[in-house]
Amino acid sequence: MDPSTSGLSQKLAKAGQPHLLQFWTELSPEEQGDLVQELQVMDFQEINGFFKSAMETSGSSKQEKMDARMEPVPREVLGSVTRDRESLKDWELEGLRCISQSKVAVLLLAGGQGTRLGVSYPKGMYDVGLPSHKTLFQIQAERILKLQQLAEQKHKVKCCIPWYIMTSGRTMQSTKDFFSKHNFFGLGKDNVVFFQQGMLPAMDYQGKIILENKGKLAMAPDGNGGLYRALGHQGIMGDMERRGVESIHVYCVDNILVKVADPAFVGFCVQKGADCGAKVVEKTNPTEAVGVVCKVDGRYQVVEYSEITLATAEKRSSDGRLMFNAGNVANHFFSFSFLKDVVEKYEPQLQHHVAQKKIPYVDAQGQLVKPDKPNGIKMEKFVFDIFQFAKKFVVYEVLREDEFSPLKNADSQEGKDTPTTARHTLMSLHHRWVLNAGGHFIDENGRRVPAIPSLKDGTDLPIKCEISPLVSYGGEGLEELVKGRDFHPTLMIDENGVHELVKNGV
Ligand code: UD1
Repeated sequence: MDPSTSGLSQKLAKAGQPHLLQFWTELSPEEQGDLVQELQVMDFQEINGFFKSAMETSGSSKQEKMDARMEPVPREVLGSVTRDRESLKDWELEGLRCISQSKVAVLLLAGGQGTRLGVSYPKGMYDVGLPSHKTLFQIQAERILKLQQLAEQKHKVKCCIPWYIMTSGRTMQSTKDFFSKHNFFGLGKDNVVFFQQGMLPAMDYQGKIILENKGKLAMAPDGNGGLYRALGHQGIMGDMERRGVESIHVYCVDNILVKVADPAFVGFCVQKGADCGAKVVEKTNPTEAVGVVCKVDGRYQVVEYSEITLATAEKRSSDGRLMFNAGNVANHFFSFSFLKDVVEKYEPQLQHHVAQKKIPYVDAQGQLVKPDKPNGIKMEKFVFDIFQFAKKFVVYEVLREDEFSPLKNADSQEGKDTPTTARHTLMSLHHRWVLNAGGHFIDENGRRVPAIPSLKDGTDLPIKCEISPLVSYGGEGLEELVKGRDFHPTLMIDENGVHELVKNGV
């Protein structure tokens, strides 16, 4: 196909993107076909518009202005697992009741590229090296299964928690194949619904789309806030409506401790009559890479770690704590009607955020260049940018050691949020579950191991202990298995019973 006769050249010239065809004559017929296909479906007017408004609303002067308008979350919208202990059981019961009526769905954001972790496959397929070698996907699937079972036992009805999984062009096929290969980890195939978010081209600072090679544009997923467009375009809201879903728990793939469809969080939001809620942990280090939930101009939002100034991040209240300490753990609650309004009405109002990146490109001579400093931008919407539209917004504070340990970096990099830290926090939580249920651990000499493991060789190694989510969702139901018993690590508790495994390295 000749781009000049088909009108494509004109379309690109009009959009200020004619360079996308500069290597046309050097491409094979197949490459030409692929490029034309990619370009024909693109709405350049829209993309140029995104670029213009994203650039206008980003930049350091905007950051400083926003800092001045930030206010912390007020106590009255806050529920806390530590400060509101007396209400916790009620919230949990309410959540379980909703689950038993099949009114709760979970929605996983899994369209990211895992660049920092450095793997070429979806992060959910990662095995952090637990004794069971379960992947993040399997752990999450089993928590869903267990929760369905708990709700069914309590209310004596069959129920289902549908699992919506957002992937991107880069992760869709491998994610689907992985689930099929593992027989959906025991979940009903029809209750796991995959859908795909959109992609946007990377652009240079002048708004020119970057070519990754002579016949291909540098494309990236449009951020986890691409969720709302994808929900609308792919008929997912209709699927939720048919199933009678009323509450949706949205979460990110990388947190090994995530309490999928957490009944206490869901119950808290439902009892408060909230249309939108965010789970947070206390941020204690000003430079930790978490966004903070706060109010800006009287409306709730997350100010992302990349968008806050250090001076504001370091501000402290009179009690010595960070003033902006509601650390976003990327676990959100939406009522169905709120989500529907967002998808149908508010989505176009969401602005793209700008991330400056080092984007490999082909130069005018056709040479591939890997820049060593940022040379362009990626545009992303963020999932939490819809908080501003909530009529009743609530915040739910949980304990970091129980619920938040994300997998972001490879072990070879800095020691934070790595496979090792993820594995250790999960085992440490399970260790505490065993102790709280009346079990004990003994060392090779038969001596009881203290509850807080000592520092050995400068490393704080946890007791090796793993409990399958199929046995316990949140530490419940363990007494009959462990009370009054002594265990040698590695302890594994799964659907086949309690096992002490022969020693293996952690
Ligand atoms: C995210 C939060 C941050 C929070 C932190 C906690 C956002 C925008 N930021 O930051 O406020 O403190 O987690 O760990 O939510 N994803 C997609 N599509 C995309 C991009 C990402 O589905 O286009 C998914 C990823 O697969 C992942 C999640 O969104 O599950 C978070 O992405 P990531 O880039 O890891 O977010 P952070 O920068 O760590």
